[in-house]
Amino acid sequence: MKRRALFGGAAAVGAAAVGGAALGAAATGANADPEPTGTRSVPFHGRHQAGIEMEPQAHQSLLALGLRDGVDAAAIRRLLTLLTDDARRLTAGRAPLADLEPELAAVPARLTVTFGFGPALVAAVRGAARVPAWLGPLPEYRTIDRLEERWSGGDLLLQVAADDPTTIAHALRLLVRDARAFASVRWRQDGFRHAASSHRPGTAMRNLFGQVDGTANEAPGSAGFDRVVWRDDPEPWLDGGTTLVVRRIAMNLDTWDEVGREGREFSIGRRLADGAPTTGGRASDDVDLEAVDERGFTVIGPSAHVRRARAGNDRQRIFRRGYNYDDASGTGLIFCSFQADLERQFLPIQARLAEQDALNAWTTPIGSAVFAIPAGVRPDGFVGEALFT
Ligand code: HEM
Repeated sequence: MKRRALFGGAAAVGAAAVGGAALGAAATGANADPEPTGTRSVPFHGRHQAGIEMEPQAHQSLLALGLRDGVDAAAIRRLLTLLTDDARRLTAGRAPLADLEPELAAVPARLTVTFGFGPALVAAVRGAARVPAWLGPLPEYRTIDRLEERWSGGDLLLQVAADDPTTIAHALRLLVRDARAFASVRWRQDGFRHAASSHRPGTAMRNLFGQVDGTANEAPGSAGFDRVVWRDDPEPWLDGGTTLVVRRIAMNLDTWDEVGREGREFSIGRRLADGAPTTGGRASDDVDLEAVDERGFTVIGPSAHVRRARAGNDRQRIFRRGYNYDDASGTGLIFCSFQADLERQFLPIQARLAEQDALNAWTTPIGSAVFAIPAGVRPDGFVGEALFT
């Protein structure tokens, strides 16, 4: 089942609620939405961490921390306990201890704080021999990569997402404050999607090339999502966890501007208007890689992004949760990919795209990082607790 199908129901319910309120609101001219979206919260506890299997929030900041010299397993345990406590409160709309602006914590706006571990953190707790082989920098993709240190690596990732950027700023400030004795900020990447209220729930986002992005993702809540993303792992700290690849990909809008609409659609294999395959059908349909035109050429060309990204085998699936960026550093996509098995699911796709992908003419990876996303948190536990047992 695709995301459209899943969220179709939610959208219908939302429309019904708004429709009912609108009758009363029409007379007063008041806002038709009875409940501000900022009051919504996402459960922090569970088998999996929050912030992955859900409709993505409008804003997201990724914060990669670097552990300070001498920070050992006992200190990391204190750090994770502190940050878990902050996250637990903030995501429920409650102010953490010693929050001097508690009013800013009162609007959770679907805030989630998702923790990821880099190799140095795992090594500091368990020893270098126990760091999973896949947890480290990706192979170098010489044909495409122009990686910069300032967007790469990291020991502890905090993925902080919400529908309200004020909520994120406040959460980040408190998390950084409590981490300060143990770690310093290595990089921060702020991204956005459509504002929460500007589209119907479940509408796929558009990236800054204007493309509908995320169509082929498995729907949150589906069996397919479960298969693609969550790990069954003999290591308790990773059981119910996943892996995350973050790639900061610069997009050259000036040269993209030189491409006509047909060329743009050909480079992907999906239509700009609605994200439907160029082989026909609706946005929720899969692309037909075999379809040929009247001259016998495949409609979706050999270098089209979806052809290169889509494997013949069903194992190579990933869940993309990208965010746009557009700031003084440039314009692009903070590409985030979750997958249970990084080596089997992600690496073959990335290798094929590095070798050949029409999109490479306009895109340049400038940052790269890999994190282990540990299992979910118990109500009386802390993130990554099982690392210490
Ligand atoms: C700035 C860089 C990128 C842009 C603008 C981009 C854009 C798109 C678009 C528009 C689609 C079609 C709609 C959809 O299914 O979401 C798509 C599909 C896809 N992309 Fe990307 N993409 C980028 C980078 C990547 C990277 C780095 C990977 C993986 C290493 C990747 C993997 C995929 C996959 C697996 C699909 C689905 C193919 C299918 O099964 O139909 N993309 N991308």
